[in-house]
Amino acid sequence: MDRPLGITVSRHIMDLQRMHPEATGDLSGLLSELIVAAKTISAEVNMAGLADVLGMSGKTNIQGEEVQKLDEFANNTIKRRMARCGYICVMTSEEEEGIIPVTDGYEGKYTLAFDPLDGSSNIDVNVNIGTIFSIHRRKSDHGKPPMGRRSTDVAEGWEPAQGKPGSEEDLLQAGRDQVAAGYIIYGSSTMLVFTTGEGVYGFTLDPSVGEFFLSHPEIKIPERSKYFSVNEGNYCYWDENMRRYIDHLKQNDKESGRPYSSRYIGSLVADFHRNLITGGIFLYPKDNKSPDKPTGKLRLLYEAAPLAFIVEQAGGRAITGDGREIMDIEPDQLHQRVPLIIGSRYDLDEAEAFLACRK
Ligand code: AHG
Ligand code: MN
Ligand code: MN
Repeated sequence: MDRPLGITVSRHIMDLQRMHPEATGDLSGLLSELIVAAKTISAEVNMAGLADVLGMSGKTNIQGEEVQKLDEFANNTIKRRMARCGYICVMTSEEEEGIIPVTDGYEGKYTLAFDPLDGSSNIDVNVNIGTIFSIHRRKSDHGKPPMGRRSTDVAEGWEPAQGKPGSEEDLLQAGRDQVAAGYIIYGSSTMLVFTTGEGVYGFTLDPSVGEFFLSHPEIKIPERSKYFSVNEGNYCYWDENMRRYIDHLKQNDKESGRPYSSRYIGSLVADFHRNLITGGIFLYPKDNKSPDKPTGKLRLLYEAAPLAFIVEQAGGRAITGDGREIMDIEPDQLHQRVPLIIGSRYDLDEAEAFLACRK
């Protein structure tokens, strides 16, 4: 969709809605509420050094990780706003063990999975952090809409169970069925990048007017690049094929553009965003470092799947490395972890060949 630079995200969302005459406006409303939460978090992040939100909250979350004060602030900001927006029937957050129910007549037809603050270990050292979100239509009581129906239209014979609380089952849906996904990155500027299945668009916040303006229309990830992002501190824990692939990227072979440059910040959103713009491959493979995380560290519902939706819409790919596309995985638990290899298509295909021992 041809978009003039500088339009507001609100105008973009309304234009997307106009492309679907049967749209009810609920998805537009949901995104608009999420954007208000993002602006609130952005203001707090930018004041982090001053507003006593640095450091630990003294609590531990479901992941067994110490909760930073800003994690808690971001989680509460999104949870409170979205529970009363009227477009969501149930939510899940990285910071909460169980589902976050929506009640009191606010139950809507969508679900929301979110990582309120990704890259928390970087908060106190002023490195880019972010928020990641994933939106599905609820499926309870009325079956799932036919595959591939991502617009806001309601598929024949599928009526949302409006007004009824959602369930965990509503949240456990494959990435392929996402209606929208995106992230906000709090860095040198605050950017919102999202897709509703019709391309990827990036908006930059002008804090002086409190508005997101289109700065990156129709983002496409370069087919190939010379950057790889991985925590090589885990090298000794990887399987043989993963080590062979990373060794391959580091060999001196000018003809094939190697060695690649290594870029790794330790904030998934920041590492992913850089690769989305410049091209590259990000890997958080499974490793035998932590027996409690045999399938990798990153979570499917609110980290891997939303970024997989974005990267596929931008022409890239996202796989697990053991033969599965991230978008096809049917989740069976809220905080399920998956290996994540994501980025430029050429590099993904090459990595897959190494990991399948075809190279
Ligand atoms: P979160 O802060 O939401 O828990 O996510 C942290 C994740 C992700 O942002 C990043 O890619 C990864 O942890 C870094 O892990 P390592 O420090 O093990 O490399
Ligand atoms: Mn995270
Ligand atoms: Mn997080």
